[in-house]
Amino acid sequence: MSKPFYITTAIDYVNGQPHLGHAYEKIIADVAARARRSLGQEAFFLTGLDEHGQKVQQAAVANGKAPQVYCDELAALWKAFAARLDLTNNDFVRTTEPRHKEVVQKILSKLYAQGHFYKELYRGFYSLREETFLTERDRLPDGAFDPAYGEVVELEEENYYFKLKPHQTWLIDYIENNPSFVSPDYHRNGVLGFLRNNVLEDLCISRPISRLNWGIPLPFDPNFVTYVWFDALVNYVSVPAALADPTVLGALNHQPTTTNDRLSLWPADVHVIGKDILKFHSVYWPMMLKAMGLPLPKQILVHGWWQKDGQKLSKSTGNIVDPIAVIDQWGVDAFRFYVLRELDIGPDGNWTDAGFSARYSAELANGLGNLVNRSLSMLKRYRNGLVPPLANELAPDAENAAAQTRALLEQNQLQGALQAIWSLVTRANQYVDHTAPFKLAKDPSKAGRLDEVLYNLAELCRILAVLLWPFLPGTAAKMYAQLGLSGVPDKFSAARWGALTPSQTIGTLAPLFPRKDD
Ligand code: MSP
Repeated sequence: MSKPFYITTAIDYVNGQPHLGHAYEKIIADVAARARRSLGQEAFFLTGLDEHGQKVQQAAVANGKAPQVYCDELAALWKAFAARLDLTNNDFVRTTEPRHKEVVQKILSKLYAQGHFYKELYRGFYSLREETFLTERDRLPDGAFDPAYGEVVELEEENYYFKLKPHQTWLIDYIENNPSFVSPDYHRNGVLGFLRNNVLEDLCISRPISRLNWGIPLPFDPNFVTYVWFDALVNYVSVPAALADPTVLGALNHQPTTTNDRLSLWPADVHVIGKDILKFHSVYWPMMLKAMGLPLPKQILVHGWWQKDGQKLSKSTGNIVDPIAVIDQWGVDAFRFYVLRELDIGPDGNWTDAGFSARYSAELANGLGNLVNRSLSMLKRYRNGLVPPLANELAPDAENAAAQTRALLEQNQLQGALQAIWSLVTRANQYVDHTAPFKLAKDPSKAGRLDEVLYNLAELCRILAVLLWPFLPGTAAKMYAQLGLSGVPDKFSAARWGALTPSQTIGTLAPLFPRKDD
């Protein structure tokens, strides 16, 4: 059984509508998964929803619905959203599904039996919004708690705790010895600094049902449900367990109740997450896995946060970007292109409508769209749509760009890969300007040269389609169809010069990115 490249996203809280930040993360993972498949590797891409906990329970109450009914309704909307983004996820996990809940309970039972948990009375402060206990260290210099914690209440309650201290030195060593475990580097350094300078507080893994009942019951104490993060993180192994992954089943000594597949997925290759949830993924999750006896994921790939017009995205102030509205107006590929081209994985980004339409016109309509349109229109007009004999002038440029793109995709450097592809677009547009095929066409003695130029352009468009496939699948497919080729350009190996067959007829032409000058 070969192990597919296993990539995940954070699972989103189902307490509202999807926004730009959610879309961005899912597109990163989709492009990375498509790229692996194109490069010949099998890939398994998992995304889904985090449906338990206080946030979701409160949202359900606010909507006058039972939590499960509320989750079911919103889950349909989020799944439709994934389809609208053209995601190729292989599964979609919901934490209220039996296949997930049974694995969470199995893990809790195992760790409880092995003495990883203890019960204790807690007295102190609790943030309702963040569902987290606060300590004196969480106070600002003026003594107040950060407004980001929302309402803070004093609590006295018993709970179960997961012992973290035994794993602290091990985790520091692990991160030091595995430099690519947290990427980019500055996030890795942040995690190491945190671990070296703090003695970890044990993690509270329960909530009393008297306060919160929307969660997975602790199998060893019916008065408690599982803390939402302990539940949510497990999705990364509960889906493999449900698909009979031998590593997970072996460690948990578990048999899924229903299984028709048998896939070897764990350890994950990449967890794509936002910077705000790095501590959960780089500190708590590795310790949970260690306690379970499972290997760690190979990489936690951390992206930054989007703002709009320099301000935080916020429903209440109306400062939002609605991905669906953008897609309706500009097309899904333009949206996928903009978010990955504008923002590298790591730093924070800023959406402006002006920036979006500027990139649309310069890079999509005038750059790629114009290149394909004029190259193929001239082929139609001057050669009746018949591909001329093989010529090689642009082969080195195309092969260079393909090699660079491949290397960047293998390192999940998606913005860099788009830049490499666009240097080829620019090179080809310059080639049209320099060779001036419209002038060659007027001089019958230049017919041979015109053939060469037209072949070079058509073949370059074909290679561009292959390189673009992971990013702009709809556009890449249209480019193939306009070239008169069947199928979709989903195999990177097709980016080799000379595959376009002379005498073949090209297809019907239409602008890829209509200009929006109105
Ligand atoms: N449910 C938890 C994750 C559990 S993963 C085991 C959660 N959900 S969330 O809906 O609040 O966030 C989901 C993802 O969206 C996170 O990775 C988060 O960083 C990302 N984003 C939320 N807002 C964002 C921006 N404004 N910009 C970019 N990404 C952002 O946390």
